[in-house]
Amino acid sequence: MAVVITVAQQKGGAGKTTLAANLAAALAGRRRVALLDIDPQRSLARWHGLRALHKTAAPILLSDVSGWRLAAELDRLRKDHDVLIVDSPPHIDTDAKLAVRSADLVLVPLQPSPPDLWAAEGTLKLAASEKRPARLVLNRAPAAGKLRQQVEADIARRGDLMLAATLGNRAGFASAFAQGLGVTETAPKSVAAAELLALLAEIEGIVG
Ligand SMILES: Nc1ncnc2c1ncn2[C@@H]1O[C@H](COP(=O)(O)OP(=O)(O)OP(=O)(O)O)[C@@H](O)[C@H]1O
Ligand SMILES: [Mg+2]
Repeated sequence: MAVVITVAQQKGGAGKTTLAANLAAALAGRRRVALLDIDPQRSLARWHGLRALHKTAAPILLSDVSGWRLAAELDRLRKDHDVLIVDSPPHIDTDAKLAVRSADLVLVPLQPSPPDLWAAEGTLKLAASEKRPARLVLNRAPAAGKLRQQVEADIARRGDLMLAATLGNRAGFASAFAQGLGVTETAPKSVAAAELLALLAEIEGIVG
């Protein structure tokens, strides 16, 4: 049975799809990885289409089933894979609720800005009401700075949990995505890849 990781955040552009794609690419090859794209924008499915052009890229299965068939699809994908990563739209709809309910871990990416944190509240509340563990993931984070400090202090005050590993604002994430790959594949020695692997190690520590 797969470990299910759902990436959710109502704020558009927070980094959900980038995170889902890069985690999948880093795990592919050593785990049987499936991606489920329930966002009607289908960005992750497009990424996966580009990936198919790389004959040597480690295989990842992609499904974009949503709506009334979603529950059965989640069950099916869970049976045949080690990890299932679900990318969701920038709003909480019925599908996103089901994806959160099915998750072993909900990842909520946010950029270090108050609107991203405010937008994360709905997803964190939903995860709490479904009794699913959730972690904020700081994305496009500067190494230091007042805004980052302020957002981190707000998170700590509210008692929300954030992964210690963060992702910086790095062009490598966008350029790898444009090729249907992850940063660990396009630039394995880069800072971006090191950040991604640290994030993955922390996630594996939570879900096993
Ligand atoms: N760490 C990063 N460094 C640099 N660029 C990033 C990073 N994370 C995301 N981006 C860029 O930010 C944009 C939005 O990212 P992404 O599409 O992953 O967000 P999203 O939350 O999935 O958006 P949506 O809500 O529209 O689905 C993309 O152009 C992506 O390349
Ligand atoms: Mg997206």
